Amino acid sequence: MLQIKTIEEYQQAYQKSVEDPEGFWAEQAATFQWKKPWDKVLEWDFKKPDVKWFLGGKLNITENCLDRHLESRGDQAAIIFEPNDPNEKETIYTYKQLHAAVCKTANALKNLGIKKGDRICFYMPMVPELAIGVLACARIGAVHSVVFAGFSAQALADRINDAEAKMVICSDYNNRGKKHIPVKKVVDEAIAMGCDSIETVLVHKNTGDDLNWNADLDKWWHDEVDSQSEHCEAEVMDSEDLLFILYTSGSTGKPKGVVHTCGGYMVYSTFSFLNVFQYQENDIYWCTADIGWITGHTYIVYGPLAAGATSIMFEGVPTYPHAGRFWEICDKYKVNQFYTAPTAIRALMALGDEHVEKYDLSSIKVLGTVGEPINEEAWNWYNEKVGKGNAPIVDTWWQTETGGIMITPIPNVTKLKPCFATNPLPGVQLCLVDPDGNEIEGNDVEGLLCIKFPWPAILRTTYGDHERCRTTYFSMFEDKYFTGDGARRDEDGMYRIIGRVDDVINVSGHRMGTAEVENAINEHPLVIESAVVGYPHEIKGQGIYAYVIISDSVTDNEAFQKEVANVVRTEIGPIAKPDVIQVVSGLPKTRSGKIMRRILRKVASKDISDLGDTSTLLNPEIVDEIISGAGLK
Ligand code: WTA
Repeated sequence: MLQIKTIEEYQQAYQKSVEDPEGFWAEQAATFQWKKPWDKVLEWDFKKPDVKWFLGGKLNITENCLDRHLESRGDQAAIIFEPNDPNEKETIYTYKQLHAAVCKTANALKNLGIKKGDRICFYMPMVPELAIGVLACARIGAVHSVVFAGFSAQALADRINDAEAKMVICSDYNNRGKKHIPVKKVVDEAIAMGCDSIETVLVHKNTGDDLNWNADLDKWWHDEVDSQSEHCEAEVMDSEDLLFILYTSGSTGKPKGVVHTCGGYMVYSTFSFLNVFQYQENDIYWCTADIGWITGHTYIVYGPLAAGATSIMFEGVPTYPHAGRFWEICDKYKVNQFYTAPTAIRALMALGDEHVEKYDLSSIKVLGTVGEPINEEAWNWYNEKVGKGNAPIVDTWWQTETGGIMITPIPNVTKLKPCFATNPLPGVQLCLVDPDGNEIEGNDVEGLLCIKFPWPAILRTTYGDHERCRTTYFSMFEDKYFTGDGARRDEDGMYRIIGRVDDVINVSGHRMGTAEVENAINEHPLVIESAVVGYPHEIKGQGIYAYVIISDSVTDNEAFQKEVANVVRTEIGPIAKPDVIQVVSGLPKTRSGKIMRRILRKVASKDISDLGDTSTLLNPEIVDEIISGAGLK
């Protein structure tokens, strides 16, 4: 597979990918093991949308991630698992061992009645069994839907039901930092809410603490898996068969299940992994994301394994048992590529340089960030303190929907610019448009970020609701995929992501729909209406600011705030808890009844110098009240 090494190669590859996308991607795809070659590289129509890559091709992604490495690197570490507690020893899975574990698990799933096309939901901490389980699904053609284990029972139940999953795979408990989290209990609660499609709950024993056991549904992982054969024929999958569903938040309604398929996703995840991280034979690569998010799917599981890399999987948190844990791990394994989120960088930066200075980080060749815009201070700190000025930073912009990295520097090949994701990877045809959909040409401009041409890992649909996929991404601007982000293209044609232009906020790199949080808050019996906006937050990137109208006066404000936070915790999970809750008597609304969020955002950001035109408001007097309620007057 092409690994770009010079700027000329980048330019040539990019040009070829635009002039002859089919030829370009066919060359990349040819480096994989196919059970049957494709008949046609690409068919697409963004109007429907209908995108198909490598039509008629048959493959199994796990053969490409595992089997094909057995001969050349069977004894090389595929996954190094670093536990939460640094006093516990790491677990290493070589490619041979991982292959065997995946096959055994796949056999166990079959034995439990799972067939190709069935959906399996995962609700697990960052333990090797999560990666193994996901690959076991792919082995037999079951569709995985991993739900981040910080979501609430309600959120889990919603996702199980939307996908009509037949099985949930979970752990008993989770050790995360100092916390001991009852994972299966959340699954039990979700199922008690009504998840009729679930036939089995497969429980991985992680800590071994006491559990409630439901003999009708529950089965132990070890009982089902340990006795299975280490051989499992890989299911023949069509390029366009579903590989996984991953739920993500949008500006309206409930989270939607983004669907990725086998062939294109495999090609793109590997291509982007090899190029963005410039992974070389025997390098040790570490991505700190959780497999509950797309970054973990593409850059812990599929991309690195398909590329034959050694990938670290970390169970814990950056600050446990001390603020130098990330750097200690980098030193311990002599990590060569390190990929994390700006929120983690900012949090660690705030804890002082001494934690990073203690460790030898000279092995690091590439540093990556993802999930949210990185501010200059954090970029500089990462560059100087972690990379010692020697490791290029790849600020990678992409989305759950894009499946893989889209805009990014290529280390030692393309130019860096702090806080700029810089340039598109080959195959990525960007454009900026104005709100009317006119393409903005030239440089030194700003606009809405769209993509004009399909890349192999573009989402194919939103599960069970294709129309929603069309309206969300493809209907805003004709024949373009709309990202939801605003971006700037500078004098040199480099891209800087400004942030979401829709009602999606990004808290510590976690995507959240403001409507989702509002719906949760509205569940509180006293709340009549609420409006949620993001505001700049030093560590989290964005914080959650909620304005609420209540039916009765509240005497104990502190208790009320806690109750609202608890409702959100129950409906979505702790990550969606508002940072600020302000009780108001009304919300600024236009005559058509639309909340003027611009004003709410300004107040939440403590920036009321220019509130813009408020004359069209139905209730202009409310603005003053909100400002003084926020303590700004
Ligand atoms: C934001 C995460 C600025 C963006 C892989 C996007 C970024 C959303 C960057 C997708 C970046 C991601 N710079 N913003 N390098 N990377 N974003 O689906 O707003 O969890 O639309 O995928 O994160 O979040 P998601």
